[in-house]
Amino acid sequence: MKRPDNLTTKIFLDGGDPNETREIIALLGFLDGQTTNPSLVAKNPLFQECSNGDTACTDDDLWRAYKEIVTEISPLVPESVSIEVYADKDTKAESMIEKGLELNTWIPNAHIKLPITTEGLKAASALTEQGLKVNMTLCFTQDQAAAVYAATKTANPGDVYLSPFVGRLDDRNEDGMSYVKNVVKMFKDSDHHVSPLVASVRSLEHFMYSLSLGADIVTAPGSILREWAEAGMPVPDSSYEYDAGELVAFDYQEKNLEEDWQNFDLSHELTDKGIERFAADWNNLLK
Ligand code: G3P
Repeated sequence: MKRPDNLTTKIFLDGGDPNETREIIALLGFLDGQTTNPSLVAKNPLFQECSNGDTACTDDDLWRAYKEIVTEISPLVPESVSIEVYADKDTKAESMIEKGLELNTWIPNAHIKLPITTEGLKAASALTEQGLKVNMTLCFTQDQAAAVYAATKTANPGDVYLSPFVGRLDDRNEDGMSYVKNVVKMFKDSDHHVSPLVASVRSLEHFMYSLSLGADIVTAPGSILREWAEAGMPVPDSSYEYDAGELVAFDYQEKNLEEDWQNFDLSHELTDKGIERFAADWNNLLK
């Protein structure tokens, strides 16, 4: 197989295992990038070995294992590997900046993953001003997306990824894909320094609709990419009909992307819960 000629969306693997990256590249014939997060890398045997040993893992052990995994994935994918900083509800921007700078030295194609909170946005602003690339994660509202845009104005196209999480909105009967559609529309006539990267993809339908909407990037677990390959890697056009069933759609909201980022409402329950879950998956390995 090879990259379909009419495919404009970049395809990333959402995972934490270089063996899976190699398998997916062999299957599809290409792969543009990879996203990782603390929950995904925590499943990697390197992490599990460390936590099952006689002595508990140290924080340094975990970061060493994360580095090893990411260093192996980096040369396999041309575009980018997203590496997430540790952040819980008390983590300050200074600590995210320091970690982000360190993670950026690991590989030449890193996007530093930061949560969309006041502290995460301060860190994003500082890191992009220094020329680093970021992936702003756990995005659930157009306000959060607009704040990311406004906080990273000095970045070049491709330097800022924005990750709307589809499946977690679907989980609470809200139509995550209608939200993605709104985000794609909001950035359509912008300067494109922010690229929507569809995340928390749970089905082939999510994946296909992301392609038909012309999202810049979609990241999907290996299971969905395998399903796509089995189906012959179809690329739907804009007439693709996505069936959201009973899920409640989000209305489009006009936002002024030129506003100060601090004026946007950054709060969302799922962002808080997501930060808690990532931190817990990491901290559980230290026990
Ligand atoms: O891309 C983000 C992803 O890893 C989260 O997915 O299924 O836990 O919502 P999920």
